[in-house]
Amino acid sequence: MPAELSPIDKAKFVAAKRATEFVEDGMKLGLGTGSTAAWMVRCLAERIREEGLKVVGVPTSTRTAELASSLGVPIASLDDVKWLDLTIDGADEFDPNLALIKGGGAALLQEKIVATASDQMIVIADAAKEVAQLGAFPLPVEVIPFGWQTTKALIEETLVSLDVLHRDCTLRMNGDRPLVTDEANFIIDLHLKRIGNPRQLALVLNQIPGVVENGLFIDICDIVVIGHGDGRVTVRDINQGTEGEEQVHFAPTDNIFADME
Ligand code: A5P
Repeated sequence: MPAELSPIDKAKFVAAKRATEFVEDGMKLGLGTGSTAAWMVRCLAERIREEGLKVVGVPTSTRTAELASSLGVPIASLDDVKWLDLTIDGADEFDPNLALIKGGGAALLQEKIVATASDQMIVIADAAKEVAQLGAFPLPVEVIPFGWQTTKALIEETLVSLDVLHRDCTLRMNGDRPLVTDEANFIIDLHLKRIGNPRQLALVLNQIPGVVENGLFIDICDIVVIGHGDGRVTVRDINQGTEGEEQVHFAPTDNIFADME
């Protein structure tokens, strides 16, 4: 394996590897999106290869579907499997209640549907994603393209009466064109700096016509596995009220990295 993995990549890797240990034979799994979730797909593929683990994964984006397929992880649609045992996904921020901001990778809509359709959600993250209060990371809101400027104005107007520090909203771009999600929508990023009441904000945003979904995940995540650059992981279970620290042995097989630079 490349010895040059940065501390942040090591942290993501060990979090993903530890979380993959929660996977049991026969499980139906939600496969998250993003750089940390990509490590998880790799670790899962390794368990499938090494142990003959039998699972089926529901990807939350075309990117994850392509990665899973390329690594031999069996995939299905959510409509095929209907309900999932476990979803493992990354996050942009998590707070002490395991409320999340997600959608930095523009996949929040499928991610929220899949995580909600799961008995359990485990978030995998490097330690920098932990915050006392959500909001430093811009909150992604998925909107339909029709009338998006009006939707954006309505969001800005709505924010005036809510407990947030800033209210700048920007359309996410991909070069000189609006970024288009897997569901053919746009993303408006809300630069709020501090979200005083995430639950209220999540509910209010979804009442605005044109808003499809927002990136606040409240009462969805059960466990967070926090990776550290030295190979330690912290496993925090919000339902059990437990937290433990472990060392993940950082000796992945070459196979995991075989197709990487
Ligand atoms: C994808 O839309 C996001 O919700 C990701 O899960 C989130 O942005 C975390 O991504 P990284 O693992 O790449 O930081």
